[in-house]
Amino acid sequence: MSLFRTKTIEQSIAETDEAEYQLKKRLTALDLVVFGVGVIVGAGIFTLTGRAAATVAGPAVVFSFILAAICCGLAALCYAEFASTVPVSGSAYTFSYATLGEFVAWIIGWDLLLEMLLGASVVAQGWSAYLQAFLSRLGIMVPESVAYGSRFDLPAFVLVVVLTILVTVGIKESMRVNLILVAVKVFIVLFVIFAGLAYVNTDNYSPFLPDAVASEGVKATLEAPLIQVLFGFTPTNFGLMGVFAGASLVFFAYIGFDVVATTAEEAKNPGRDLPIGIIGSLIICTILYVAVTLVITGMVKYDQIAKTAALATAFEDVGKPGYATLIAAGAVAGLTTVVMTLLIGATRVLFAMSRDWLIPASLGRTHPKTGTPVRITLAVGAVVALTAALTPIGNLEYMVNIGTLAAFTLVSLAVPVLRKKRPDLKRAFTVPFSPFLPWLAAAVAFYLMLTLPVETWIRFILWMAIGVAIYFGYSRHHSRLHVHAQTAASEDARQH
Ligand code: ALA
Repeated sequence: MSLFRTKTIEQSIAETDEAEYQLKKRLTALDLVVFGVGVIVGAGIFTLTGRAAATVAGPAVVFSFILAAICCGLAALCYAEFASTVPVSGSAYTFSYATLGEFVAWIIGWDLLLEMLLGASVVAQGWSAYLQAFLSRLGIMVPESVAYGSRFDLPAFVLVVVLTILVTVGIKESMRVNLILVAVKVFIVLFVIFAGLAYVNTDNYSPFLPDAVASEGVKATLEAPLIQVLFGFTPTNFGLMGVFAGASLVFFAYIGFDVVATTAEEAKNPGRDLPIGIIGSLIICTILYVAVTLVITGMVKYDQIAKTAALATAFEDVGKPGYATLIAAGAVAGLTTVVMTLLIGATRVLFAMSRDWLIPASLGRTHPKTGTPVRITLAVGAVVALTAALTPIGNLEYMVNIGTLAAFTLVSLAVPVLRKKRPDLKRAFTVPFSPFLPWLAAAVAFYLMLTLPVETWIRFILWMAIGVAIYFGYSRHHSRLHVHAQTAASEDARQH
């Protein structure tokens, strides 16, 4: 049953006291909300709003945003309970190591890597799109062969390389810089809402829920939501199914509140501050997103909304190029922090895995000068830079979403399990109506997974297969828990 061996919460907490792993506990609830908004608001709202409205949902994309917010809200409650009970870095990976056992923890960690590695790549691509939009308004053209959407997206590549170097030399998410960039970003989003309001033409809202149109052919089957194919429906865009398909795309825009949970070790009063940080940032972003979506689909007819730099282009379309330039500049600044935080998130998950010896411990060793896990950081940077540069745009978002949704499903299921196993633990925050609400959270997240395209599922299954192979080929036998258990057993045998 070693697959289900668990690492006790006390063990996890004790390890954070080991001097070389200690993090300063100085973040307040407000810091965490700012941090959360900083990671959440990014490529999703700045770019995917356009794509979701134009290709699958129409103005009803606002319902997609609300649906995705409900799914995230339910999961956020579960994350909040965990983070306030197990205040240890590593987020969902650590929570599940304490409850569902090593194998599930590994699977969740593997999902989180998918989320953060590819998430950073997508946002880097979105950053490149906005940089290009900004530069072209200043009359500067990025050479076509290395531009956004070309075979090698040079700006995205350079961004990731620079951020990786920053992260490696130990510039932590300095809360000050973060605060400024988050302020810029929120200002830009509010600007879009209030400046755009004047250009809303209610004619653009009809039809609000465009009729479903069938998409045909083999390609369409691969691109169709799994659930439609499973139940033999003709794959469609728009209509009610379009709203669901839209939700599983714009879900991306909310990703990040779960990353707040990775700062658990650094919170002053984790029991209170983490739930506020996680849920607070999610609420703020939901309000902003609903408002932005209503304004943008009111400004431009849904089928004409730009699929990349959607927010900036909308202002150009209504004859306000100056506003478009400002928005593009703000997006470039704002998206930078998202990429950086996701890079750090990915290194933290790998770091936690190496601390548990599920990947070679030597990889996670911190550099004596910089105090950062240099090897892991460089590996993460290389993977993200190349993925961002070489992957055709529009291919990664769904992969990020499926990885995150899978983690949500498992984390939600784990909440009642931990309650049963460890009723004694102090829980500063509890999900109401457990186990029903956690189960509902898991069901909604899983349902959204089912609305993702068949192609995404195939890729996801491949990714998971690689993860499982690594676990059985390496991690299982090298795990710290396994090695310690074996040593203990052989000592026992010697003594008797
Ligand atoms: N939610 C983040 C974004 O939209 C990942 O960029």
